[in-house]
Amino acid sequence: MDEKLRELLLPYCRFSKGEIRLDSSGMHKIGCLDAADLASIKKLMDEEKGVLAVHDPPYNFVAFEEREVEHFIDWCKVWIKNSYEVMSDDSALYVWLGADQNNHYQPFADFILMMRDSGFESRSFITMRNQRGYGTQKNWMSVRQELLYYTKGKPFFDVNSEYTDIPKVLKGYYKTVNGKETENLERSKSEFIRAGNVWIDIQQVFYRMEENVNGCYAQKPLKAIQRIILSSSRMNEIVLDFFSHSGTTLLSAEMTGRRCYTIDNDPIFCEITLRRLENYRNTGRTGWQNSNPFEEEILNDVKLQKHLKETYNISLAQPSLWNSGVME
Ligand SMILES: C[S@@+](CC[C@H](N)C(=O)[O-])C[C@H]1O[C@@H](n2cnc3c(N)ncnc32)[C@H](O)[C@@H]1O
Repeated sequence: MDEKLRELLLPYCRFSKGEIRLDSSGMHKIGCLDAADLASIKKLMDEEKGVLAVHDPPYNFVAFEEREVEHFIDWCKVWIKNSYEVMSDDSALYVWLGADQNNHYQPFADFILMMRDSGFESRSFITMRNQRGYGTQKNWMSVRQELLYYTKGKPFFDVNSEYTDIPKVLKGYYKTVNGKETENLERSKSEFIRAGNVWIDIQQVFYRMEENVNGCYAQKPLKAIQRIILSSSRMNEIVLDFFSHSGTTLLSAEMTGRRCYTIDNDPIFCEITLRRLENYRNTGRTGWQNSNPFEEEILNDVKLQKHLKETYNISLAQPSLWNSGVME
């Protein structure tokens, strides 16, 4: 995000660094905190523990020279340790992390090695299929999003209730039941397949979707986070997310009856997270497909209008065009 835009938006944010807010129902907390600062994390938790953490740290392939990978991993080690500290004895950790196929699958490769000494056990390497990819000319198109699942102790896990939208069309898994040969279609309860560790039924967020939050460049799909939450937590339990951004984890927790304690070190993304929750409660909408979280302010603030017009050529008549490029 450019500095000028940041300066113009900050007065509309209810968060300042170090501040923690409880939402109006008292279910969730949002903190403008640093994931690497244990004292802040402890303050957020106030002696409570999370049963699930869903983290999506920032990673930028282009910036990853070897030394930077080391720095990144050192930093990851700190917030992983902080997570461990505030998670219950039986809990689940999910981390979204990229792997640059043109640079030895960084930072993924070093991250999984670092996790060996973290106290968490490795449980699954989930792949979510993206619709858009990169490297189509001289390589296999990269359409994968990596998601790592780790556990501490023996957490709750129920993926049986989580069926995908994918019809069970393939036969071929035969088994003899009561002396009769049956195939998988006859035996199963559902016409749909259950989620394994390759998720091809989730649509990547793009501007035409209702859940799209214009201005957020790294939004994860609600369906993916809801799948995680339903499988790895129970009603009213606490779900953590140290990198809130558009507040996808918080909204997913709200929609599934869980509590979410989430942070972002940027007051603007904390504000967007809170506005997304409020907007959902007021309108039932999960994002701002034809608008954006600061539309009201843009309509009334001449300086903001001028900046958006001059820098991004976005006019008042088209506030919805205020999309990803602006906040990157
Ligand atoms: C990849 S985005 C998370 C996207 C999120 N899962 C979603 O669906 O919107 C990463 C976020 O982490 C935040 N962040 C970066 N460094 C941080 C830190 N040290 N502590 C807390 N948040 C941080 C950034 O401001 C950014 O909003």
